[in-house]
Amino acid sequence: MSVAEQDAEDDGRLAISAMINGQRRNIRVRPQQRLSSLLRDELGITGVKVGCDAGDCGACTILVDGDQVCACLMPAAQAHDKMIVSVERMATEVSLNRIQTAFHRHGAAQCGICIPGMLSAATHLLGRIQQPTEHQVLDAIGGVLCRCTGYRKIVAAILDAADPMNVAMPVLPETEVVGARAPRLDGIAKLTGQAMYGADDIPADALWLRAVRSPHARAKLRFGDLDAFVADHPGIVAVLTAADVPGHNGFGIYPHIKDQPVFANGHVRFRGEAVCAVVGERAAVEALRLEDVPVSYEPEDPVIGVAAARAEGAALVQADKPGNHLITGRVVSGDAARALETCAHVAEGHVSTAFVEHAYIEPEAGWAQRVGDRMEVHVTTQTPYMDLDEVALVLGLDKADVRIVPTACGGGFGGKLDQSVQPVLAVAAWTLRRPVACVYTRPESLAASTKRHPAEIDARFGCDKDGKLVAAEMIARFDTGAYASWGPTVAGRVPVHASGPYAVPNVFALGEAYFTNQMPAGAFRGFGVPQAAVAHEALLDDLADKVGLDRLEFRHRNALRVGDITPTGQELKASAGLARCLEVLRAPWKAALGDCERHNASDDVVKHGVGIGCMWYGIGNTGMSNPSIMRVGLGRDGRLTLFNGAAEVGQGSWTIMPQIVAETLGVPLATIDQVGPDTDRTADAGKTSASRQTYVSGTATELAAQDLLAQLRRLANAGADAEVVFDGATVRIGPAEIELARLPVRDDGFALRGEGTFDPPATALDEDGQGTPYATYAFAAQIAVVEVDTELGTTRVRKIVAAHDVGRAINPTLVEGQIEGGIAQGLGLALMEEYLPGRTENLHDYLIPTAGDVPEIECILVEDPEPTAAYGAKGVGEPGLVPTAPAILGAIRHACGASIRQLPATPDRVRAAILQQRGAS
Ligand code: FES
Repeated sequence: MSVAEQDAEDDGRLAISAMINGQRRNIRVRPQQRLSSLLRDELGITGVKVGCDAGDCGACTILVDGDQVCACLMPAAQAHDKMIVSVERMATEVSLNRIQTAFHRHGAAQCGICIPGMLSAATHLLGRIQQPTEHQVLDAIGGVLCRCTGYRKIVAAILDAADPMNVAMPVLPETEVVGARAPRLDGIAKLTGQAMYGADDIPADALWLRAVRSPHARAKLRFGDLDAFVADHPGIVAVLTAADVPGHNGFGIYPHIKDQPVFANGHVRFRGEAVCAVVGERAAVEALRLEDVPVSYEPEDPVIGVAAARAEGAALVQADKPGNHLITGRVVSGDAARALETCAHVAEGHVSTAFVEHAYIEPEAGWAQRVGDRMEVHVTTQTPYMDLDEVALVLGLDKADVRIVPTACGGGFGGKLDQSVQPVLAVAAWTLRRPVACVYTRPESLAASTKRHPAEIDARFGCDKDGKLVAAEMIARFDTGAYASWGPTVAGRVPVHASGPYAVPNVFALGEAYFTNQMPAGAFRGFGVPQAAVAHEALLDDLADKVGLDRLEFRHRNALRVGDITPTGQELKASAGLARCLEVLRAPWKAALGDCERHNASDDVVKHGVGIGCMWYGIGNTGMSNPSIMRVGLGRDGRLTLFNGAAEVGQGSWTIMPQIVAETLGVPLATIDQVGPDTDRTADAGKTSASRQTYVSGTATELAAQDLLAQLRRLANAGADAEVVFDGATVRIGPAEIELARLPVRDDGFALRGEGTFDPPATALDEDGQGTPYATYAFAAQIAVVEVDTELGTTRVRKIVAAHDVGRAINPTLVEGQIEGGIAQGLGLALMEEYLPGRTENLHDYLIPTAGDVPEIECILVEDPEPTAAYGAKGVGEPGLVPTAPAILGAIRHACGASIRQLPATPDRVRAAILQQRGAS
């Protein structure tokens, strides 16, 4: 056949023949079927990832006759006579290929969902150009989005792979495991397409579910005859509404706020809210026009924005929330108002930020099944135990009757700390007694998921004539959307961090959250601290100018140090490395200032500037318990098994926790197996959020390993300091030898099992926000070098140098990866990201940084150990992002004088600010 031929006897399907991953396949395809659908859904080639189905994200990039092609854009029929290669074909049975090996060496895969597409793009490039330049690499991967890595390690890996001599597989360290650049233990699965994400391992007999979502921000809601609708649509099994929820039709983050319904009950409060769900055979559900489901709306004027929510007589988003007020967080120390009157210099300003989308490349996905009288949900998530609580509540079950099994998670960044598919899948699978699956479309993900809180921030900072900060005031008002979600967390965390990482004796800070008719704002890398940092860093720059001090030196003079008292009255007893971060940045800062000066003397249009941003970040929950429990089993054969309940979302806990076990027990990393996370098999390690897993679960892991050592010493009647040496199935403790095979077998099959629990020593805050909200803080400073085209208003970031006090880098490669990924997201926050409901519900209108947007990044790790932590390690998930936007905005101001106080700093806003500044001068 030279072209695909139609087979009239097969429902219009077309017969094609193609070489797919080395095999000749003769297949019949539907006329409008996408190649991605054929490969994934019919041939089971799930290494082809679908992130948008619109050619925007590039996750489905494969090789077709050697060229990189988005499989979601190519009709399956056009695959006729083609040679198709996906990630599954790139490795042999025994080894990764050269490009995969380079990715593995560089730790280039974090969540891994973009990696199949990246590998295809890299293979295409290196097939054409043996020694590409960095520019050519950036061009080649420009169509594949990565939200985790900041691209730098991917670019380095591809350049490295171009050298045929670079073929070495990274090896697992045997000694000095903590601090080693160990390869990711989940790396090979992510580089070969074996990692199973939420949409990848759905049972063949699962029904399919799609939610019907409101097109209105605020409306009354009425259903037509749903039974008749089901009867009229073969293959549709049910339309589920609020009436079908067997337990409580509501969920939410806080135990006392379960305000978001599984299905809207009588009225809707945001565009994208689920009103009902259609469940049926997959083909029937996918063929359905959701607009045909008999739902009618009576729209009402929505409450949009904090000002409208606070206005006199504003309609109430939730009837029992007067003033649309959710909560106010408060920190007061000293008398800021009076102190500001005494200051030699005062800076004040207003900052506005937008809704920002997480844009994880893997949309929400999962499946559920009823197993007897228990519910089992397999889902992409950051928080399996919170999912368990919510599913139990919605179904009216005991928690013991719910099991959550996290799949591989293709990025979260806080967005997968909320419920998405979990409640609707649970209701459907429970009531219909069939496995049910749901995979959000990209527009659905954008419309229905939580966002970063938009903020309206008013702040005043004052200092004395020598540049010592005296007082800070901040009132930050947040749009929390229609439901509470993580609004209380944001409102509570921001006042603690409002004065920045500086010693300020007088502070008055409020964080207020208001309901509006927008999608809920939830957790997003930083919980409001990035927005607050934009404000305090802009004012620090203003004050430095007023005092006549260098901006870096002004910060160094005021940096929080060991022995200082924070605004909550907490004494920093150890591990406060901001001053050291600033000291290591002095040389690149001075060099960048000099470069900018030289450049700007010779260019009147494109101006260069350098800016600096600092941050501190409390690790873990604010002023409340957030324990983690980890367990380590020792088999009678000497193998060790870590029961690791920390959700791995790309940050690296699947690698870091075993590194801690190996170091504590003095064994090679390769001797440790892992189980989990799975709520039936692993203990609660808490959420993967608030940069807490390395600190909290890492310390629990060390304690579990130490518990195992203590048990072994007791068996040998040895002292607490006796050396323990693991040697296969024998353990030597001083002169004693324990033959593990002779120990009795526990119920769980192990000879011994160690358990560790760690809950950071924090305290609740009083009504003035006084107390110990966090046991430890991460600190960081970043400098950004930018160029601004003053005619066009465009900004290009040329370089970032990031100095981070991480306590101790358990795995420097993974720490750098977190910082680089955070910087890319911070760049997006500063320059391009703004979610507008109904207008940016896809990844071609909602822009996130591509490989070409992310500049050279230099990471400098400062290690100021935290004494309460395993090996001194704090956390770095959020800190990578927080200082970036302030540094970029400061650099824009340095370049052209434009002070941007409304984010993102899009070209029109920068240009307008330049014109305004020229008009004023
Ligand atoms: Fe690229 Fe997660 S590693 S999207």
